[in-house]
Amino acid sequence: MTSTEGAPQGVITAPLLRGQKALVTGANSGIGKATAVALGRAGADVVVNYVAGREDAEKVVEEITAFGVRAVAHEADVSDEQQVVAMVDRMVKEFGTIDVLVANAGLQRDAPITEMTLAQWQKVLDVNLTGQFLCAREAAKEFLRRGVVPEVSRAAGKIICMSSVHQIIPWSGHVNYAASKGGVQMMMATLAQELAPKRIRVNAVAPGAIKTPINRSAWETPEAEQDLMRLIPYKRVGDPEDIAHAVVGLASDLMDYVVGTTLYVDGGMTLFPGFATGG
Ligand code: BGC
Repeated sequence: MTSTEGAPQGVITAPLLRGQKALVTGANSGIGKATAVALGRAGADVVVNYVAGREDAEKVVEEITAFGVRAVAHEADVSDEQQVVAMVDRMVKEFGTIDVLVANAGLQRDAPITEMTLAQWQKVLDVNLTGQFLCAREAAKEFLRRGVVPEVSRAAGKIICMSSVHQIIPWSGHVNYAASKGGVQMMMATLAQELAPKRIRVNAVAPGAIKTPINRSAWETPEAEQDLMRLIPYKRVGDPEDIAHAVVGLASDLMDYVVGTTLYVDGGMTLFPGFATGG
């Protein structure tokens, strides 16, 4: 037996995620939407979670089912324990199981520290961190119940946490958001350590500046986009698909040995671009 037996051999002959069941939270817009579509294109059946914006979610479902896979929209607030439990229960009933969780739902409520309300702090922590915890917990229960099904995947399950470059880059005026993403990093690594012996892979994707509604003001005008370029060595703002493709890769068996890692997809934002000329 060679050490590569059973490993992908470099030629992709079938859709990467054929037969897998994926749940993407916050999938009615932005990065979540692109990710849900990309997972469907890669052969997965997809639950499109949203908290508001049913019509947008239904459009994402239509886009995905056009690939010949199944998709359903499911309304749930990821920070509400009962709603998350009910969502994963429904998925297991209707799709049979869950193989991939993309814990993506997130938001910003920006304010300088002296003006930030407790409600703003709490909301961001509730959705961005507690929401990922609740979804990861419910997915992990099902992964453990089912175990590895070799025809489907080498892993019993994959969790991909949507983090941010701000899990490592401090961000003035966004202390709630940066703290939530710092929390996501340590939650991801701890869960990865805890669940790896059960063949569950937990990883994170850390996007930089991606063109989505969350940061419209940062790229909307040519002046703003120009200013943003100071922070991006690769000199372009990212597209949601840049993130979606990273998620598909991490979810697939091509990356079966990637465990507990954060994949930065940021055009080099975390390379300290200010030091290109200074220091
Ligand atoms: C934030 C965006 C921001 C980007 C880079 C993301 O996590 O949600 O608003 O543009 O980080 O700073």
